[in-house]
Amino acid sequence: MSEQVVLYEVSNGIATITINRPAKYNALNTNVRAALNDFFAQAEKDDSVRVIILTGAGEKAFAAGADITGFPGLNSKEVREPAKQGQDLSVYIESIGKPVIAAVNGIALGGGCELAMACDIRYASANARFGQPEILLGIIPGYGGTVRLPRLVGLGRAKEIVFTGDQIGADEAFRIGLVNKVFESIEALHKGVGELAAKLAERPGVAIKLAKQSLNSAWQKSLRDSLAYELDVFCQTFDTEDKEEGVAAFLEKRKATFKHK
Ligand code: COA
Repeated sequence: MSEQVVLYEVSNGIATITINRPAKYNALNTNVRAALNDFFAQAEKDDSVRVIILTGAGEKAFAAGADITGFPGLNSKEVREPAKQGQDLSVYIESIGKPVIAAVNGIALGGGCELAMACDIRYASANARFGQPEILLGIIPGYGGTVRLPRLVGLGRAKEIVFTGDQIGADEAFRIGLVNKVFESIEALHKGVGELAAKLAERPGVAIKLAKQSLNSAWQKSLRDSLAYELDVFCQTFDTEDKEEGVAAFLEKRKATFKHK
């Protein structure tokens, strides 16, 4: 049987997508990118899935970036399609109307860091390391690294990370806002991510989707356009059953039970 390069599991409304090439630090080749795309699509379509977790198999890597073994001799024309596949995947992850959590369990370099940045929330274990080492290969980030990194950590810090190719540890990534939380071990990371996912799975699905759209829109557009967009989607939440339930539960002093409608 051929190796399954990405694993997919659904439990209690939470889909876990695991990059599964641990011997190669979960490097992203064409098959991995295609399988990731398919499993994210499966999770998006499945109404029972409320939250998606992206992680890497093993104890060393989330993903060590694009598979460099495919690079020798590749020219500018030939690299465009695989790079576009990586960029499209990052845009697709961002567009999914469900929270996507990156559980960064080790090395997140190059495309691995870029995939993590396309997720909504990043939790990391203490052994995690982040970086955009492409410059050391004579190239630059190509799955959105020069675009998302400065938006997350600021232009000056992003330039330092991209120009030097240096790696940063989990605590430094936390300090500069690249990750939301750091856990002492991989086990603790998965427990913490599971608890966050379970919490988000209970939140009203339509409101989560619209909040994600509005936050993403604000990340890209002007203040004025973003406020107009927020006003539209804010109003939409008032047509949902979940809004009636959430408000009634507050007034009746009980816990809300959302139907994600
Ligand atoms: N592409 C292809 N293979 C990779 C890889 C990548 N991005 N990253 C790691 N691997 C492979 C190594 O070639 C090695 O394979 P081998 O055992 O068949 O020789 C295996 O994973 C283990 O890597 P190794 O370098 O021996 O482990 P290490 O602990 O010394 O270093 C890294 C780990 C991740 C720091 C190092 O492998 C590395 O710098 N990888 C490249 C990261 C990168 O430049 N990413 C951006 C690509 S555009």
